[in-house]
Amino acid sequence: MTMTQLSARIAGIGSYVPATVLTNDDLEKIVDTSDEWIVTRTGIRERHVVGDSGEATSDMCTNAARMALADAGMSAEELDLIIIGTVTPDMKTPSAAIFVQEKLGAVNAAAMDVNAACVGFLYSLATARAFILSGMYRNILALGSETLTSITNYQDRTTCVLFGDGAGGAIVTRSEQPDIGILSTHLAAAGQHHALLYVGVGGSRQAVTLDNINNGARYLQMNGSEIFKLAVKSMADASHKVLEKANIKLEEVDLLVPHQANIRIINSLGKRLKFPEEKVFVNIDRYGNTSSASIPIALTDARAQGKLKPGDLALLVSFGGGLVWGAALIRC
Ligand code: UT7
Repeated sequence: MTMTQLSARIAGIGSYVPATVLTNDDLEKIVDTSDEWIVTRTGIRERHVVGDSGEATSDMCTNAARMALADAGMSAEELDLIIIGTVTPDMKTPSAAIFVQEKLGAVNAAAMDVNAACVGFLYSLATARAFILSGMYRNILALGSETLTSITNYQDRTTCVLFGDGAGGAIVTRSEQPDIGILSTHLAAAGQHHALLYVGVGGSRQAVTLDNINNGARYLQMNGSEIFKLAVKSMADASHKVLEKANIKLEEVDLLVPHQANIRIINSLGKRLKFPEEKVFVNIDRYGNTSSASIPIALTDARAQGKLKPGDLALLVSFGGGLVWGAALIRC
């Protein structure tokens, strides 16, 4: 009996950002900051935000999913599973994936969220690949999406200049061509760093009270400079791990698609890996840090700009609050 070796390939990608743009000039009117500080320290010029549109995470996901389904030439009924990496679901329960399942009419799909901060998309993608390699599912929608502005304190200049809203993702499909698709993935975590980035209120440990609504404790708290130090090393390690697993050399990579958190982190990663700057994809100037949405938004932008073509090898790598980090190596 011959056994077919299953592999997982990306059949379609899509992304969505809300229409409202919040510029550095706009932020200068809200907190004590400047366009000069934000651009030199982060590389961000503007970000898209849901604002008053009434959009929630599942609305953005549904738009990104429709684009990915059309790109794959697939109907929603063909999906077996929807996974959304998010820390900002529409509600505490049910998951954002449930609302996406309903809106898409993906009646044959199971649905769940994954909470892995800025690495949410890569955790979703790796989970999708594992389900496909196990033989359990054939077509999976793996998304990353955040409405970070819903947990951002617009009185805290150290965080509010960084974040934007958005969604993006991929249709991951069963394939029998092992040299194409998601060649390898690596996921990691270091829980001892949990106090560097968290939303402490509103979970089972601390209820929402009038006091903590008034003192800002219900918003995201972050020690940015400590995370900065861990980010570069963890992303470099994850990059090496996925290359080793796939037995591929860094020189073969056509495009490095890092999490768009800070241009200085991206540049330091490139230097640490000794990777050519022109092969590193950057779009942080237009979106800010969209957490789990940043890599799939970058992927769709890169392809639209002709920087990612069929046959290209892309290295996706991210880090985020937890600390969590991870990477995926993809032959397009
Ligand atoms: O996606 C994963 C989640 N997190 C991250 O990716 C965050 C990673 N970290 C970073 O990107 C950077 O650490 C930040 C952009 C958050 C901060 O940059 P930094 O170079 O580490 O600045 P810092 O925190 O050391 O602050 C330097 C100075 C401080 O003033 P003093 O104490 O030197 O007088 C801050 O108060 O910059 C001040 N500052 C600002 N000034 C103007 C902090 N935020 C601002 C601001 N505008 N928005």
